[in-house]
Parts: sequence; C-alpha cells; structure tokens
Amino acid sequence: MSDSQHFAYRRAFLKFLASSPLLASFGLTAFGEESETPARTSSFLLDGPDIGQIGDIISAPDQAINVFDFKAAAKAALPPAHYGYLATGVDGDGTLLANREGFKELYIRPRHLVDVTNIDMSTALFGVKWDTPIVLAPTGSHRAFHPEGELAVARAANTRGHLQILSTVSTTSVEDVTEARGAPIWYQLYPTARWEVTKVFLRRAQAAGCPVVVLTVDLPVLSNRETFKRYARMDERDCASCHTGGFEHYPMFDGITLAPEEWAAPHLTWDFIKRLKDETDMKVIVKGIVTHEDASLCLEHGVEGIVVSNHGGRAEGSDRATISSLPEVLKAVDGKIPVLVDSGFRRGTDIFKALALGASGVCIGRPYLWGLSSFGQPGVEQVLDILRRELEITMKLCGTPTIGDISRAHIRGA
Ligand code: FNR
Repeated sequence: MSDSQHFAYRRAFLKFLASSPLLASFGLTAFGEESETPARTSSFLLDGPDIGQIGDIISAPDQAINVFDFKAAAKAALPPAHYGYLATGVDGDGTLLANREGFKELYIRPRHLVDVTNIDMSTALFGVKWDTPIVLAPTGSHRAFHPEGELAVARAANTRGHLQILSTVSTTSVEDVTEARGAPIWYQLYPTARWEVTKVFLRRAQAAGCPVVVLTVDLPVLSNRETFKRYARMDERDCASCHTGGFEHYPMFDGITLAPEEWAAPHLTWDFIKRLKDETDMKVIVKGIVTHEDASLCLEHGVEGIVVSNHGGRAEGSDRATISSLPEVLKAVDGKIPVLVDSGFRRGTDIFKALALGASGVCIGRPYLWGLSSFGQPGVEQVLDILRRELEITMKLCGTPTIGDISRAHIRGA
C-alpha cells in the first residue's frame, strides 16, 4: 500500500470510528486531519511529577513508591496512541486537572490518642463484605494495555479481594472475567441505540452471576479528547491493521452488528431506567451523576446506587472535581442508597476524604491501568497494595480504626 493510500484508508477508518461515544470510550476518534502542533504533555504532568530520565522509570512493581511511578512506566511501555487513550481528558484536560485539584480544597482533621493498632478497612456493598472500599472502575479495551487484559485485572482483584466492574467494551467476555475473578463482578452498561443489544448484554451479565449492572450515563455523545488526538498523531503504526471495524470482534459483541450511528444512544431519557429494571433482576446503579437534581431523579426512578463520576475528566468539560460534586449528591440521596465516587483518586488521603464525606466506596481507573500496562497482574496488585497501604496509614494517623469511624468531623472545607 502506498503512503497516500495508507493515509486515505486510515482517514476513512477513523472517520467511521468517530461517530460514537462508545467508540470514544474505546479511545478512538478522528485524528491526523488537523495541522501539526506541538504535543501537549499536560495530562502526564497533572497526575504527578514528570520523570525526566529513563533511569527513573521503575523496572519492577515493588520499586514503586506511589502509584504515579506506574504512570511513567506505562507511558514508556505503551505505543503513543494507546497511552493517549489512557491519559486523555477532554478539551484542554481542565476537568482532569480539576479532579486532582479538588482534593486540595478539603483538609483532614486527625484525631489522636485512639488505639489504631488494628485497622479494619472492610466495607459492605449490597450486603457483600469487601476487604476495602477501593473498587476497580470499568475501563475499556484492557488488551490494548497488556496481552492478558481483563484477565490480569481479574486475577489481581482476586488475590487482593477487590470488587471489579467490567466495561461493556471489554476485550474479554463477562464469563471469562468472572471465572478469573473467582467471584461475582459488576457489569457496566453502555446503551447502544438498539434495545435488543442491551438485552443480550444484560442476559449474559446476569447469567454470569453479576449482581449489579452499572449504567453509564455521562457519554450520550462523543466527547472531545484532544490529548488522545495529539498522542495518536505521534504513533507511527498503522492503526487500521489492528482496529478492524468497530467492536464486532470484541467477545461481548459476538454476533452483534451495529451500524456506526447505532453505537450512540443520545435519545435516552429517564424512562430507560424503568426499562432496564423491568428487564433484569440485577440491581441497577447509575454512573456519571454529579448534581443533586439528577441524584433525586435517580431515587424517583428506583435506582439502587450511584457512582458520582465525570468519567475521569473524559466526559463533560465541567472543570469541576467529583470530590466537589459528591456532597450535593450525598445530601439529595440522604443515605437511602449507596453512593460511590471516582475520578482522580490517587492517594490514600483522597480516598479518606471521600469516605469522610460519606461515600460508600471509591473507584479507581487509570492507576490500575498504569499498573496493568507496565507489569500486567503484578502491576495491578502493587497499585492496589499501595493505595490500601496509604489508606491504612491515613486511618492510623487520623485515629479512625474502622471505615465506620471516618466521619464528616475528620474533614473541613467542603
Ligand atoms: C474509562 N472509563 C470508563 N467508564 C465506563 O463506564 N465504561 C468504560 O468503558 C470506560 N472506559 C474507560 C477507559 C479508560 C482508559 C479510562 C481512563 C476510563 C471511566 C472510568 O470508569 C472511571 O470513571 C475513571 O477512570 C475514573 O477516573 P480515574 O481514576 O481514571 O482518574
């Protein structure tokens, strides 16, 4: 294929991919059509110190001092387009930045002379007890990060006892991930324009033993992922040689053919919740809620849990941190259903602050993907170990031996 044919093919392929938020979740959108400008590395800098020398990049999981060490290792391990998919926010990455900065607006009030010899981080969600409140958020296309993909993540979740939520756009089936996890996982649902397709996902997830379906509502249309576009441009490889078509080759899409315009579901309204609840016995929780108005509507429509999320700064460009959105959602919910939160959680202190506000759990996305990208299962395990260790230290230093001891009295500024 000549260069010009190659680029024409690549452009046509990427135009096709650009038509859906689901595909945006896959990290692919049109790129390479605008004039070249210097690549931004903002998202790399935002989440931790830039590692300037190759010698600073860890070569084994146990060398990591904090989760950001895995970010540098992931960046070194991945092709630019795949790293861009992982790292990107929207527009100028303002919301991605806000997610981190939001934590600075809350400070911790430790209490002392409490016996903190033994720390118990266990947390119950829908009657199931977990070792920690740290949950693996649904993220797409794990085999773009490591050949073992979702299986490596499931095995790490298994050895470390964490709840895992599987993305609709997983590169491994819900059946195989559940088996590798060795316990029920939760299933995340992106609605497509076709109800029959949703029904297939629900049926398979329920049959695999998922007790909960997590409906993601924050991407009715494609978001503008500029950092992804810039990294993708740096990639010399022929994307179309691997990314053939849409998701037809993903195991959950086996036998499903969707037209490009059917990947998105911009028409969805609150009626969809009733339809879901009528269709499945799984508990329905909604991910992507950031306002008290929508939290109240969740209650009105019988939603059984909420994930306060801005998709890790990848959905709307709100410039607002989810840790800032959390209090209004919690107030509207008033303890009636569990409220989890994600987006920008990188430290035990971040998790502590969310728990102090009243969150029932905290999901992490990129940190475990950094671990997966750089070292596979041991990388994910080490990320989980670091976060758990940091949370444990924070609980000891703040005089809160159990999760139930962490309260609003332990923070100010919200
Ligand atoms: C995501 N997220 C996501 N959410 C979802 O509901 N379905 C999905 O398929 C994906 N895919 C996905 C891919 C990648 C590469 C990332 C980084 C994120 C969002 C995810 O569930 C979660 O909301 C964020 O990752 C949380 O923010 P942090 O921890 O990444 O800052």
